[in-house]
Amino acid sequence: MPLPLSAIPSQPHENEPADAVHESAETLALLARRRSLKLMHLQAPAPSAEELDALINLAARVPDHGKLGPWRFVIIDGEGRTRAGAALEQVIRNDEGVDDARREFVRGWFNRAPACVMVVSSPRPSPKVPEWEQVLSAGAVCFNLLLAAHALGYAGSWLTEWPTFDERARVALGLAAEERVAGFVYLGTAAQGAAERVRADVSSRISRF
Ligand SMILES: Cc1cc2nc3c(=O)[nH]c(=O)nc-3n(C[C@H](O)[C@H](O)[C@H](O)COP(=O)(O)O)c2cc1C
Repeated sequence: MPLPLSAIPSQPHENEPADAVHESAETLALLARRRSLKLMHLQAPAPSAEELDALINLAARVPDHGKLGPWRFVIIDGEGRTRAGAALEQVIRNDEGVDDARREFVRGWFNRAPACVMVVSSPRPSPKVPEWEQVLSAGAVCFNLLLAAHALGYAGSWLTEWPTFDERARVALGLAAEERVAGFVYLGTAAQGAAERVRADVSSRISRF
């Protein structure tokens, strides 16, 4: 059962004292043990509109050099999933080698999970903040969204897949030329748990000057 929205504390206003440090054994447990789920294991209910709004507001609390907010969110849930899938299907409809089965699969692309938040990296022209930093901030948003969803009681997965890398798909989903999909964060209720996966050997990736 997801936690009630009242479990999410209000965010501080500008210049109000914030919690720079917040000891939390529960946060450490979440970080130590969380897992993404495969789309086939995400079932209804999706987070409600109010929950998605709250999750996105938490997700957006990321480091963001220059306070540019170089990202935006497109919610693809409910009937919107069918509309977005239809837009993708139009993209591939007449591609070489595409048969009816593929068309139908692509039409149902966003119906593979109860909800999806398309996190769009939307870099702003800036003499001070390199685009690289702005893109990294969008990546941080994706993971923050996943963590927030997990903490509220939903399951999810951060995927890119072909629509991220197909310019026609990006246009069909409403992205501007300078924008990229940082992630499709699929969300739903866990139909089952997940076993741990292989992890990178971190110790071999740590060095010290
Ligand atoms: C930017 C990004 C894009 C990803 N895209 C895909 C993808 O298209 N397809 C896929 O199977 N996994 C993709 N993954 C991996 C999934 O998120 C994967 O389920 C995850 O790494 C599982 O690890 P976790 O349980 O620790 O979250 C992507 C990961 C990242 C960070």
